[in-house]
Amino acid sequence: MWSGIQRFQVGEDGDGANLVAKADRAADPDYARAVRLFVAEEQNHARLLARLLAAGGLPTLTGHWSDTVFVRLRRLMGLRLELLVLMIAEVVALRYYRALRDGTGDPLTSDVAGRILADEQRHVPFHCERLHASLAELPRPARRPLMASWRLLLFAASLVVAADHGPGLRRLGLGRLRFVADVMASSGEVVSAVLPPVRRNPEPNRNSNAPSHAEPGSTRHSPHGGTRR
Ligand SMILES: [Fe+2]
Ligand SMILES: [Fe+2]
Repeated sequence: MWSGIQRFQVGEDGDGANLVAKADRAADPDYARAVRLFVAEEQNHARLLARLLAAGGLPTLTGHWSDTVFVRLRRLMGLRLELLVLMIAEVVALRYYRALRDGTGDPLTSDVAGRILADEQRHVPFHCERLHASLAELPRPARRPLMASWRLLLFAASLVVAADHGPGLRRLGLGRLRFVADVMASSGEVVSAVLPPVRRNPEPNRNSNAPSHAEPGSTRHSPHGGTRR
């Protein structure tokens, strides 16, 4: 269980400078402010997890290959693609923190996981809202294939996390397959929140289709929603 916490701690850590710079270029001051708050929350997750590890007498990791790949990829992308990649981390993280909150016997760990989970449950609708507007700017035939590719990447990321953290997840009462299945189940809600409504069948309030703050289905990061964005 501790190695999972160490890995997610690395993912949460980062200054978010890359994401903030892209948000600034989007010329929407409200959004740029919100992104700064988002980055601050992710940094707080890294801080909470580092303190939890310290309480257990464990060090934080200095880095992990998957996180380095994740960060480098995102630097090469525009805001839209970066948010899609980030969302993979968020959706995986949601399921992980829920398992940690509910499955650990340690009240401090459960409390920390619950606090982080509450933030992550708001990050997903926040990114969905932006992506919804962003995808509406794309030609319609490109939208579904883009989200289908996103789901494939999410599937691959959840497999990597399940392979990497199988024993830890099992100790939290969650089998590998269940973890992957739950992550994929929650992705449907994200996809429908992000895809703009089909014009033939207008649904005026579809905008509020970002997943509610309730956990989608079951739930959802790089293998951590790092802020090294
Ligand atoms: Fe986070
Ligand atoms: Fe997050």
